[in-house]
Amino acid sequence: MGDTRPAHRHPATLPREFLAEIVDCIAHPIFVKDRAFRFVLLNRAFAEMAGYPRERMLGKTDFDFFPESEARFFREKDVEMFGGGQTVKIDAEPITDAAGQRHILSTTKVPLRDEHGEITHLVGIIHDITHLKDVEDRLRIANEELESRIETRTQELARTQELLLTQERMAVLGQLAGGLAHQIRNPLGAISNVAFVLRRRLHGAQSPDVERAIEILLEEIQRANRIVTDLVEYARLRSPRLQRVGIPELLADLELSRLLPPGVRLVERVGTVPCVEADPVQVLEALGNIVRNAVEAMSGHGQLTIEARREGEFVVLALTDTGPGVLESMEHRLFEPLVTTKADGFGLGLTTARNLIENQGGSLAYQRAHPPGARFEVRLPILRSA
Ligand SMILES: Nc1ncnc2c1ncn2[C@@H]1O[C@H](COP(=O)(O)OP(=O)(O)O)[C@@H](O)[C@H]1O
Ligand SMILES: [Mg+2]
Repeated sequence: MGDTRPAHRHPATLPREFLAEIVDCIAHPIFVKDRAFRFVLLNRAFAEMAGYPRERMLGKTDFDFFPESEARFFREKDVEMFGGGQTVKIDAEPITDAAGQRHILSTTKVPLRDEHGEITHLVGIIHDITHLKDVEDRLRIANEELESRIETRTQELARTQELLLTQERMAVLGQLAGGLAHQIRNPLGAISNVAFVLRRRLHGAQSPDVERAIEILLEEIQRANRIVTDLVEYARLRSPRLQRVGIPELLADLELSRLLPPGVRLVERVGTVPCVEADPVQVLEALGNIVRNAVEAMSGHGQLTIEARREGEFVVLALTDTGPGVLESMEHRLFEPLVTTKADGFGLGLTTARNLIENQGGSLAYQRAHPPGARFEVRLPILRSA
């Protein structure tokens, strides 16, 4: 089957062997097929690429060497070229060699005609672009990685910028709040002094209306003071003065008897837990906000349970009340500033509490309690040297 009829249109002016050698010298795989799709000529580069000896391939077809799906694709393109009589270009086609290696080829199939213009053969010229494809793939992956890294960096930058802006805003707010607190607390102090004097003078004077009015005056002063304190606490977040803090001592300093009205029962379940490392003033402020909310939620009647347990490197303080619990629609905004459901609320209590606890390297989270109620878990890091 080694018959190679003249595979060119014009008679060669050079000896055939010489031409064959030239074809063999070409580094790109080249093959010639007849109309029965049999290989009638192939150069050394083609035999090397395919991995089969040239003598074995001559007279055979693609189906004798390559996986069926590949051979079918080659055949389809051969038929297209013979049928259309036009050059067919295949940008990329896979081929599996004798050793099972996959190559990616870019192939051009050119019709070869005899002196009557009839197409007698197909000449295939191949570029093995496996390496190129590899590089292309690697480039694409590198590109994607780069893009994702740029994306990450951009996000980091945006976050940092946002943080800086927030810090700047907080600094301004802190100054403002400080000034405001000073301006408001002084007159409030004067007013409450006067109210106390009046109450003392009126004592036993049988004028319940005036006495009630003075009580209201004092309550409202306390409320105004609370708002000023909330604002100052929210706006001024100083760095914590970390120290060794025992949980029983911390709870004693919270002065729960002062915070809880007579109708609220206190249940403390605090076993032996390790000391934490925290700024007691800041933690007390946070706990005070949580307890005040619990008291307000229970409107004077119920039970506040305080439990402590160790969890890994943290002590968890859980405060559970028997109020109605947080409104479901509120749960996801609970810790946002200025979010309140109370007519006279300011909405800074929980956001401040969370800031203060996070300031200690801890965390504050809300959970629904069963039976209904709210449960807040304060997580504080255990003293490292303990
Ligand atoms: N223990 C609780 N039970 C039910 N709802 C609560 C509790 N604590 C907080 N909340 C809800 O979270 C809101 C925000 O609380 P907070 O930040 O302290 O602001 P404020 O007390 O001024 O409203 C409250 O208005 C209330 O709706
Ligand atoms: Mg509150």
